Amino acid sequence: MEIPPRPALFDFHGVSMTKYFTDNWDNIQDFKARPDDILIASYPKAGNTWVSYILDLLYFSHVSPDRQEVVPLHERVPFLEFYMPGFPSGVDELNQSTTVPRIIKTHLPVQFLSKSFWEQNSKIVYVARNAKDSVVSFFHFDRMNKAQPEPGDWSSYLKRFMDGKMVFGSWYEHVKGWWEKQKSHPNILYLFYEDLIENTEEELDKLCSFLGLSPSSESKKQVMEKALFDNMKNNKMANGSADAVLDFKISPFMRKGKVGDWKNHFTVQQNEQFSEDYDKKMKDTDLQFRTVL
Ligand code: A3P
Repeated sequence: MEIPPRPALFDFHGVSMTKYFTDNWDNIQDFKARPDDILIASYPKAGNTWVSYILDLLYFSHVSPDRQEVVPLHERVPFLEFYMPGFPSGVDELNQSTTVPRIIKTHLPVQFLSKSFWEQNSKIVYVARNAKDSVVSFFHFDRMNKAQPEPGDWSSYLKRFMDGKMVFGSWYEHVKGWWEKQKSHPNILYLFYEDLIENTEEELDKLCSFLGLSPSSESKKQVMEKALFDNMKNNKMANGSADAVLDFKISPFMRKGKVGDWKNHFTVQQNEQFSEDYDKKMKDTDLQFRTVL
């Protein structure tokens, strides 16, 4: 299939977006959520795929052991706002889904989420990752994803990230918006990528208790084993290789999976400028991130 030219970024109700996530807007806003839906929300590159994979394993590995081997993750966990000619839209996939629960991916900032999720009180897992590793991961992703705007060089990309001119808008507003929301919304579990890396088992226990699941220690062990970075990287159904718009000759989708890779990208000066600007943008929140472990 012919891949169309990279899309342009434009302002959409105050958030930078591309047509692939706004062209289906009315259907996204009118989407009918269910009380047993589980939404995995994040800013891009925070570990959404990892958590999607873990949840899919927790719910379906014993019912349908083949699922992980034959169905690409993006079909198992549809991407709510995704809309690209030639592919099924996220909304259509979800409306046709027969699984219970439906596990759903979104990158929408909190103010854009379909109101039905709030009305139905669906469970939401938000995954957040520190800004420095997020921008590095996003940069490499935009290089290899032909459905994203042209990234340009690293220093201009970093500037654009600081200005919030990225697909799905400002990282700062995204993580703060969902953080504020979870304070009054017990059906949101706010997780950090860094915690998942540092202590996967503890975070898995948090997830299970939030979702009301009690897997045996054997199945927990299996989930953790399958969700290891190298195992996911080697799984064609999870590593993005089933996705036509990704160019693996430029960069892998499962790239490094580490905390602190930003140190290999930021110059000393970029780090100083970024940190100074970060402190200003984050001074109105009690949300804290770790950039090293
Ligand atoms: P890097 O580019 O830093 O390697 P998302 O799924 O939200 O797009 O996030 C992608 C990031 O999560 C990538 O980061 C990817 O490598 C990382 N990731 C995915 N699965 C992982 C796993 N099992 N363990 C650690 N990191 C993982």
